[in-house]
Amino acid sequence: MKNAQTPQLPVKPLLVSSVTTLKVVARKLPKKLPVLLLGFIFSTIISLHNPLSAQRTQKSNENVVNIYSYRQEFLIRPLLDAFTKKTGIDTRVVFLKKGMLERLKSEGRNSPADVVLTVDVSRFRDLKEAGVLQKIRSGTVNRNIPTKYRDPEGMWIALTTRARIIYASEERVKDGEILTYEELADPKWRGRICTRSGYHVYNIALITSLIAHHGEQATEKWLTGLKNNLARKPQGNDRAQVKAIKEGLCDISIGNSYYYGKMLFNDKNPEQKAWAKSVKLIFPNQANRGTHMNISGAALTRYAPHKKNAIKFIDYLSSDEAQFIYGEVNFEFPVKSSVNKPSKIKELASNFKEDNLPLQEIMDNYKKAVILLDKVKFDEL
Ligand SMILES: [Fe+2]
Repeated sequence: MKNAQTPQLPVKPLLVSSVTTLKVVARKLPKKLPVLLLGFIFSTIISLHNPLSAQRTQKSNENVVNIYSYRQEFLIRPLLDAFTKKTGIDTRVVFLKKGMLERLKSEGRNSPADVVLTVDVSRFRDLKEAGVLQKIRSGTVNRNIPTKYRDPEGMWIALTTRARIIYASEERVKDGEILTYEELADPKWRGRICTRSGYHVYNIALITSLIAHHGEQATEKWLTGLKNNLARKPQGNDRAQVKAIKEGLCDISIGNSYYYGKMLFNDKNPEQKAWAKSVKLIFPNQANRGTHMNISGAALTRYAPHKKNAIKFIDYLSSDEAQFIYGEVNFEFPVKSSVNKPSKIKELASNFKEDNLPLQEIMDNYKKAVILLDKVKFDEL
C-alpha cells in the first residue's frame, strides 16, 4: 500500500475540541458555581470526548462502525457512503500510515476499532498472530468470498486481488523480450531495472512465491541476479519506478497492476499519464504458473464494540456492489469471479493467468524471504 493518508488520530483532535467546548461552557457558567460542580461538568465533557470512554457508550447506544484503515480515504469513501446509505449505520475511520498492529495491541480490550482494512497477506498474518482479531461468523461472507480468499480460521477475508507485474519501456523493450520473473535476473538486463525496496511487503510477497516454486537456494541466486541488474539503489514507490522509465533511468520495473490505472487516469497529477504511456504491461509467467497475486482485505477486531455493525459492514464489502466499486476506483480485481470487472480494468488486463499459490504459502515463506534479502544485501547498492 502506498500513499496512506496522514493518520487521523482521534485523541488529539478530540482533546482540542474538548478545550474549545470547555471554554464555551466556562463563559456561560454562573460565577459562583462551586468548584466541585465545575469539575464534574468538565470531567463529564472530557470523558464524552475521550475515544475510549466514548467507545464504551457506543457499545449500546451508537449506530456506528469504527474502522482502522491502511487504505486511503479516496478509495474507501465511496464504499463507506454506499454502506451508510444502505444500512443507516455511520462509519468512523482512522486512516493510518503505520503502527496499526501496535495500536491495537496497546489499546487492548479498550480499542474502539471494530474493523481493520489493509493490504498484503502478511499484514493479516501479523494481526492474527498477535491475537487482535476474532472470527468473522457470517454466512454472507462465506457465500460471497471463495474459500481460497478466506483465512482457514475465518480471521480475515480478502476483498480484492492485485497482480505484481513487470512494467517495460514501450520504446526500449521489444514485445516478448521479457516474459517471466525469472528473466529479471538475466545479465542482459544489467543496469536496466528499477525497483522499490526489496523489503516492501509487495516485493517480499513476490520473493516468497519464488521460494515456493523454486526453493531458497535458487531464489537467492535469482535475487542476486536481479540486484546485479539494478540501475540504481532500491528507492521510492512503484509509481516512481515507472517515472524513472519515462525519464530513461531504466527500462524495466516491478510494480502492482493497479498503479497503471492510477497513473493513466490521473487527472489530479496529469504528468503521471505520460509515465503510464511510456510503458507496456507484462503479466509474467503466462506460459507456466501465472502471475503473482496479492490481496487487500478486511478483518474483525477481537474486542469490536459494535460487532453486529462490523459484520454488516464486512458483509457489504463482500457484496457484488462493493467489489465493483473497489475495482472501479482503484483498478483492483474483485475476488468474486461473478462480479463484472469494471470497464477501466478491462482495458488494463482482460484475462490473464494467475499464480494460484495458496496465500498460506506466501505467509509461511515470509521470514525466509527477509533472510535472503539480508543475505544478498539487496537494498545496498
Ligand atoms: Fe499499493
